Amino acid sequence: MKAQLEEMQRSALDEIQAVSSLRDLDECRVKWLGRKGALTDILRGVSSAPVEERPALGKAANELKIALTEALDGRREALESTEQARDAEENRVDFSLPGRRPRRGHAHLISQVSEEIIGIFAELGFKVAWGPDIETEYYNFDSLNTPAEHPARDSHDTFFVRPGVVLRTHTSPVQMRVMESVKPPVAIVAPGRVYRVDWDASHSPMFYQLEGLLVDEGVTFADLKGTIAHFLRRFFGKDCKPRFRPHFFPFTEPSAEVDMTCTVCNGSGCRLCKHSGWIEILGCGMVHPNVFRNAKYDYERYTGFAFGFGIDRIGLLRHSINTIHHLYENDLRFLEQF
Ligand code: DAH
Repeated sequence: MKAQLEEMQRSALDEIQAVSSLRDLDECRVKWLGRKGALTDILRGVSSAPVEERPALGKAANELKIALTEALDGRREALESTEQARDAEENRVDFSLPGRRPRRGHAHLISQVSEEIIGIFAELGFKVAWGPDIETEYYNFDSLNTPAEHPARDSHDTFFVRPGVVLRTHTSPVQMRVMESVKPPVAIVAPGRVYRVDWDASHSPMFYQLEGLLVDEGVTFADLKGTIAHFLRRFFGKDCKPRFRPHFFPFTEPSAEVDMTCTVCNGSGCRLCKHSGWIEILGCGMVHPNVFRNAKYDYERYTGFAFGFGIDRIGLLRHSINTIHHLYENDLRFLEQF
């Protein structure tokens, strides 16, 4: 029995020293000292040994238990300190590494262009007005002299929210909302989103327009021409010239479309302007008497002009880009250029 204990002590101590992780060490402790472990078996055997041997055996078994416990504790400490050291090494924080700079954003091209346009008109005394994106058919069409059966309505390809309510197809309804709430003189620009069922390289179902309206006594088409020409020169440079072509809009009479000299070829003809030297950019005209009537303005006394154009389009033209979709895909490689 004594020899057996000595043999056990030797192999247990060897095993404990050989253990290389805290988990294995736990298993090892269970194996030798656990309730079903080797030493427990021996202690049980003590009671069946001859009486005179029992004290010595009991003592030896106890000493073995103490020796193994100490060895296990010692090994635990050693393993813990190496594991901590490894952990510290693996998860080391290097305080001398340079930090990652947070990316700095800037205003989107559309916002930049809107601000700039609003700024140019603000110098001329125009205030900014806003209207809702979800608009009634009345404001979007009827009040602007475009009744239900009017052919101009087809060209707008309207998104209906429910009968009588649409996503506005242009910013022109803001004209009516403003006129209903203030008396002349009025000079406003109204920027905002507009929506049409339309999707190709140069059309997006949502885009931005800016509307202008000026009403006072004695306003003439010459004022309209001067204002547009001034704006184009300020925005595109002093060489930019407008060209007014007769056109039709239900809410203005007379109406015109305005082209400007091509930003790429300066009028000599290129792909962007389809070799015409001109690029169409806005619609405008003198406010129709029916519109004034709907707004309860005295159309004998007041005259006014209105205009509307795509903010996206003007922004893209300035940078000679022709696909509108780049603006809405949120690809930073594109947006960061502006
Ligand atoms: N609302 C027109 C459109 O979306 C643009 C426009 C044309 C606005 C003439 C005007 C205007 O105020 O007088 O096509």
